[in-house]
Amino acid sequence: MDEPGVSSNNYVRIFDTTLRDGEQSPGASLTSAEKIDIARQLVRLGVDIIEAGFPAASPDDLEGVRRIAREVGTPDGPVICGLARTTKNDIDKAWEAIQDAAKPRIHTFIATSDIHMEHKLRMTREQVVERTREMVSYARSLCDDIEFSPEDACRSDPAFLVEVLGVAIEAGATTLNIPDTVGYITPAEYHELITYLIRETPGGDRVFWSVHCHDDLGMATANTLAGLQAGARQAEVTINGIGERAGNTALEEIVMALRTRPQVYGLETGIDATHLTRSSRMVSNYTGMLVQPNKAITGANAFSHEAGIHQDGMLKNQATYEIMTPETVGLSQSNLVLGKHSGRHAFRVRLEELGYEMESDDLNLAFQRFKELADKKKTVTDADIEALIADEFYGPEEVFHMEGIQVACGQMGMPTATIKLRGPDGKEHIHAAIGTGPVDATYQAIDQIVQVPNTLVEYRVAAITEGIDALGEVTVRIRRDANGRRSFGGHGADTDIIVASAKAYLAAINKMLAYTGFADLAPEGDAATIGVRAPAAT
Ligand code: KIV
Ligand code: ZN
Repeated sequence: MDEPGVSSNNYVRIFDTTLRDGEQSPGASLTSAEKIDIARQLVRLGVDIIEAGFPAASPDDLEGVRRIAREVGTPDGPVICGLARTTKNDIDKAWEAIQDAAKPRIHTFIATSDIHMEHKLRMTREQVVERTREMVSYARSLCDDIEFSPEDACRSDPAFLVEVLGVAIEAGATTLNIPDTVGYITPAEYHELITYLIRETPGGDRVFWSVHCHDDLGMATANTLAGLQAGARQAEVTINGIGERAGNTALEEIVMALRTRPQVYGLETGIDATHLTRSSRMVSNYTGMLVQPNKAITGANAFSHEAGIHQDGMLKNQATYEIMTPETVGLSQSNLVLGKHSGRHAFRVRLEELGYEMESDDLNLAFQRFKELADKKKTVTDADIEALIADEFYGPEEVFHMEGIQVACGQMGMPTATIKLRGPDGKEHIHAAIGTGPVDATYQAIDQIVQVPNTLVEYRVAAITEGIDALGEVTVRIRRDANGRRSFGGHGADTDIIVASAKAYLAAINKMLAYTGFADLAPEGDAATIGVRAPAAT
């Protein structure tokens, strides 16, 4: 526990749960390749602990956590943590998944509020205390680093919490986490609760205290900071604040609050803030969950100044209206970077400045995409380059690859789309369909080839930059069946929004297929078969 630089009294450990609590957001399903990419980005960001998943949830979840433990859990990397309920089966699964990490942690939890114990667990207080003792000590027999959470702590009887937490310490817990599971508490109350628990829990001075807040009343960041001021030294957070319901505390908000107001908090983290913007974009692209424009730190407007008085002030001195600079969070301000006459070398240098180091094959492909874009668009900005890179290199693994698309639309005829995909069988499949509009026609043509029914539950289009030639960015979300719990997000960017729409839909389909399997797929038609399908009767 006493690692250099991490044990000092003003050091806050950043426990990232994007891949566990974050992935529980409606529609945020991630493929195992995406989880690995995000885990690697979290390492670049410098998080101390990655909660990689809930291994008992499914064999797939277990495998995803195991892969992160093996590939990212190196001796100089972060702690890799797996979540488990206080059952032997869950703890065994968590241990199976994380044991190959150099620094593994089991995080086990049980509810302690009367409402949860009575209605959900149907257990008495005594039973909860006994289960905690038994299962924390079982977990500790497997792993030296054990975190324990009393779920719904903030609606629990504080005196009962002291009893349960004391037992958890006795049984071998090394970190105690106090979740505000339903986002109910206020900053002053949370400060008081954490102060009380640290003071009253027997052995409380031997463990790390951790805070974990949900944002149902929009107070997650304020609550987390209050908990840190009360003495907690671990913050459980997610990128972009994604998570159950209204989400978790946003990592970027905690990191920048501590950094921007040292005189108030006097606390530091090991986070390299210049990776915040990229981490935010990666998580948004992979989960299909857009970041609201006015989101603190990573929203598109976070560093924009619209009012004349503000712009005037900014021109005179940036500090008039900016409490932190865009560069500190990895947002480059340079606009026109390259044009169609720019060479490979200049492109590579710009990519490196943006933080992308690419091997020569990937660099060639990226350069080719850049040239195609520069042919269509006069000014290629950093945001364009990042969208292009995200699209080409950070998408889900491809089951179906788009080879081409042709669309006819307008008021004079039937919107028709012809699409050419390469399928998992390696063959080209072409289909044409008529729709109520060009996007509907495109999606119907894709459906005809893929032949996996799904429901489109969300479709959004936005421009990445200003101007008539801006890249269009499309985000979609689909469900395999109308009542299915999981939905799958996809993202696509192009100067043509119909192409971007096709890319986004195909990305969501590829993600769904990667998740649910595609061995039994029998794509309809081949290069010689062109069918035309009538629009759906909606
Ligand atoms: O919000 C919560 O209570 C949790 C626990 C599992 C820690 O996520
Ligand atoms: Zn939570």
